[in-house]
Amino acid sequence: MVDIHHHLLFGIDDGSKSLEQSVAMVQMAAEDGITHIVATPHANDTWRYDRARNEGLLAQIREALPPDTRDRMHLGLGCDFHMNFENTEDAHTNGRRYSINEGEYLLIELPDMGISARMEEMLYTMRVDGLTPILTHPERNLTLQRQPELLRGWVQSGLLVQVTAGSVTGNFGPRAEEMAWNLLRANSVHFLATDAHNLERRPPVLSVARKMVEEKLGSALAERLCISNPLAVYENKQLPAQPQAFQQPDDDDDETPSFWKRLLGRR
Ligand SMILES: [Fe+2]
Repeated sequence: MVDIHHHLLFGIDDGSKSLEQSVAMVQMAAEDGITHIVATPHANDTWRYDRARNEGLLAQIREALPPDTRDRMHLGLGCDFHMNFENTEDAHTNGRRYSINEGEYLLIELPDMGISARMEEMLYTMRVDGLTPILTHPERNLTLQRQPELLRGWVQSGLLVQVTAGSVTGNFGPRAEEMAWNLLRANSVHFLATDAHNLERRPPVLSVARKMVEEKLGSALAERLCISNPLAVYENKQLPAQPQAFQQPDDDDDETPSFWKRLLGRR
């Protein structure tokens, strides 16, 4: 499996606290069946982003791994890009400073509250600049939980979506869990990722969520979300063909919950 969102770098954000912890996180991921990790530290007003420093930290982690893990695990670099003014201005000219493995794909995170009215315009500008934004964990965003229909237009115009494995398994509470599954059923998720921060509360484990998706929605979807789509991102290749998002569910009727109707853009 390929994990495109993981706070693996130590001592620079609220992720790993030490080199030893980072090594243990890589080992835990390897034991879970993860073969590729993108280290994605926060880039926002609180945590300064410095790609050269991050490359150095990643090299230290690689060097400290036991040889068998080092041989098996691919480690890449990106960031958890917050949509603030300074970042979006800089990404306009220096987008590949922030993107995954300096390719076209960029993880973007929204503020919990108060989504900018210029959001669509900012996403459009990124596309024009040659970047492909991947929205991280919309299911955990308080505004989108209340207004899931906002996502619909963004996804239909090409925005890619990453849901956190822990939301699928219920670790982020019932609202995130419900929205994660609604998005999955609406073919509106392109990636599962761990968003790992540590070994305990937010561990680098994908297999549990993958198995749940496999059991409820089929192995083809689970494989696409955990392997083929994130591998394309890691390698900066075009994503394989995706099913159409936000189609009407087969069992739609008058009893359909309003959340689902709002997600589909119907009242
Ligand atoms: Fe993150």
